[in-house]
Amino acid sequence: MVNILVISGSTRSGRQSVKVADFIVETLNGAENASASLLDLAKYRLPVFEDGDKRDETLLAQLQEISQKMLAADGLVVVSPEYNGGMAGSLKNTLDYFRKEYSWRPFGAVSVSSGTLGGQNAMNQLTHFASYVNACLLPNRLLVSQVEEVEDSGKPGDRFRKNAEKFCHDMIRFSKAISEAGLR
Ligand SMILES: Cc1cc2nc3c(=O)[nH]c(=O)nc-3n(C[C@H](O)[C@H](O)[C@H](O)COP(=O)(O)O)c2cc1C
Repeated sequence: MVNILVISGSTRSGRQSVKVADFIVETLNGAENASASLLDLAKYRLPVFEDGDKRDETLLAQLQEISQKMLAADGLVVVSPEYNGGMAGSLKNTLDYFRKEYSWRPFGAVSVSSGTLGGQNAMNQLTHFASYVNACLLPNRLLVSQVEEVEDSGKPGDRFRKNAEKFCHDMIRFSKAISEAGLR
């Protein structure tokens, strides 16, 4: 059984990409050899990055909670909206609080846009980040375009469903293989 943590990177009130994160969690939980949970960054809203001695108790507790969830996971899936040709700044700010948590951990990258390109620019930044922090980047990436057309997770469109299910299937296989290889 592999345990995947799905990080939803949009924190704005009208966000759409959380539907994608929810669908991935449901799909992973529906597989017989996986379990998944959602880490919703809207619930944390971490402040702009500060050094350790400037972090208050509330922030330290939040960071510890997120770190523990990441370390307990066999793999991370990070869902980024595309904002102005890149990943969401709030997501990058959150990811920057951590480092050892990524090392040799499977990392599935997902980008989401309302346009037709599926957040390719956000994807480029996310995959660059994953490789920089020594994560094990899943070769199969999921780009979701025109997210407004992805209906609530009960009834997603066929194309999205097919791509997302393949991504989840590959993420499970990849996380299991890395875990069994004992590389972390
Ligand atoms: C500040 C901002 C900038 C955006 N920039 C882009 C962009 O560069 N390219 C694009 O395809 N969509 C862009 N969008 C649309 C988002 O991709 C769209 O809202 C999508 O649903 C993912 O973000 P969300 O989860 O916050 O809704 C932008 C949205 C916001 C709020």
